[in-house]
Amino acid sequence: MKKGFVITIDGPAGAGKSTVAKALSHRLSYIYLDTGALYRVVAYKMIQVGISRENREQLEDLCPHIKINLKYLGGRMRVMVDDEDVTDKLRTEEIGLIASKVSAIPLVREILLQVQRESGKNGGIIAEGRDTGTVIFPHADVKFFMDATVEERVERRYRELLERGDRIDYQEIKRDLIRRDRQDRERKIAPLIPSADAVIIDTTRMSVTDVLETMISVIKSRQ
Ligand code: DC
Repeated sequence: MKKGFVITIDGPAGAGKSTVAKALSHRLSYIYLDTGALYRVVAYKMIQVGISRENREQLEDLCPHIKINLKYLGGRMRVMVDDEDVTDKLRTEEIGLIASKVSAIPLVREILLQVQRESGKNGGIIAEGRDTGTVIFPHADVKFFMDATVEERVERRYRELLERGDRIDYQEIKRDLIRRDRQDRERKIAPLIPSADAVIIDTTRMSVTDVLETMISVIKSRQ
């Protein structure tokens, strides 16, 4: 039996997707599927095993052997890989860049697609990522595409990393973000584009609360 809507949130890096997806899942008591974490797991495994990002052949051999298991604790997703909980090890800039690169490989997307669909089969889910509305859940009940200017997204990323106590350089973040945008938008499969039926929200001048309230009113109008 379906436990609620399938809601997707797509958009580029730094648009505020994960903050809003977490808050929304909490508000609706839905599970929160962080799809980026799955691509990050592949990158994490590559570093652990010692495969360079250029070595596609070795990566394709490795992929089917990565055993990913998602657990939901109080609605929050934990990523288990070969019985190790790696959730808190995935949010580094290095892993983000490798994840963006490997996400252009069809085999990687195909394997991760199954894991994601499995999580959404009963509804009651906020799926957040770059292709959740276009490819993973094309029949989602409500689709959002969050965007913001490059300057605003860099600023948010900068503040986030600063709060975490990371050593960071503003220009380096800007360069990485623009590079990641280009990689994600220009790839041949599942490029970052809004689904035709998505509600586009430009969050540049909006607070998290404003975005959340906008989304809630759209969701209510679909019920
Ligand atoms: O959202 P994130 O920064 O954790 O994602 C890391 C990379 O993974 C991103 O640059 C592209 C890829 N990704 C993707 O291709 N499709 C998704 N649904 C989510 C992430």
